[in-house]
Amino acid sequence: MKAITFVTQKGGSGKSTLCISLAVAAQEAGRSVCILEMDRQATISDWLDHRTAEGPEVAQIDATQIDAVMTQLRDSAYDYVFIDTPGVDSTGTLSAIRAADLCIIPCRPTPADLRAFKPTLAAVYRLEKKFAFVLNQTPPRSYRIRDAADGLAVLGILPDVNIVARTDHQDAIGVGQGVTEFNPKGQAAGEVRRLWSWIEKRTQAGKVGSGQAVSGKPVSGQIGSGKAVKHVEAA
Ligand SMILES: Nc1ncnc2c1ncn2[C@@H]1O[C@H](COP(=O)(O)OP(=O)(O)OP(=O)(O)O)[C@@H](O)[C@H]1O
Ligand SMILES: [Mg+2]
Repeated sequence: MKAITFVTQKGGSGKSTLCISLAVAAQEAGRSVCILEMDRQATISDWLDHRTAEGPEVAQIDATQIDAVMTQLRDSAYDYVFIDTPGVDSTGTLSAIRAADLCIIPCRPTPADLRAFKPTLAAVYRLEKKFAFVLNQTPPRSYRIRDAADGLAVLGILPDVNIVARTDHQDAIGVGQGVTEFNPKGQAAGEVRRLWSWIEKRTQAGKVGSGQAVSGKPVSGQIGSGKAVKHVEAA
């Protein structure tokens, strides 16, 4: 099992959106995925409420539960655990970084986003975690993308695919789907599939990022104090 934590304290950069669509893309590629939601905004639980398709499993947890839950999940049948964190620095965020085999730091190509991830990056370095940036909500083409990519590549590794701002992402989440389900032949779906295969290669390879910082049985039906967990089977 590999844990992937979506983290940056900049709100709205795309942590939950990427977490959802990558989880669905991973599932479509044959992987079993469990999402741990640590954000009380509950973007992922709301998405789950609208979802009719099977999986991925979702559980709401808080900072006090993550260590125990991760211990349980390390022995589970899941190929991947995705952890969605809130857009604020917290003890939970630090625990989620600590639990990660790979941290994904989404970043829009804006000066505010490029400044805002610095505390996250500092924590990732301090905990010696593997990480990668993902440029999200980019224009289809712009000097901004190249400038941002050049800057990020100095600090850490960047996938060979950016996620362009496309309404498919917003519409997919609204109807409880991943973008690859919502419009399988669309460009957004293609980008997410490419990003997933890049991430999977990095998690399986020994090394992720130029910074330091890259199966058993299902977990029980309810992890933590959150809402009942949909789709998670009894151990
Ligand atoms: N590639 C994209 N194209 C279009 N819209 C996007 C894209 N990525 C994210 N969005 C939209 O941007 C908004 C913020 O995204 P999201 O909720 O995933 O960010 P977040 O980092 O999880 O925010 P928070 O820190 O508040 O949890 C959402 O409305 C989402 O639909
Ligand atoms: Mg979110």
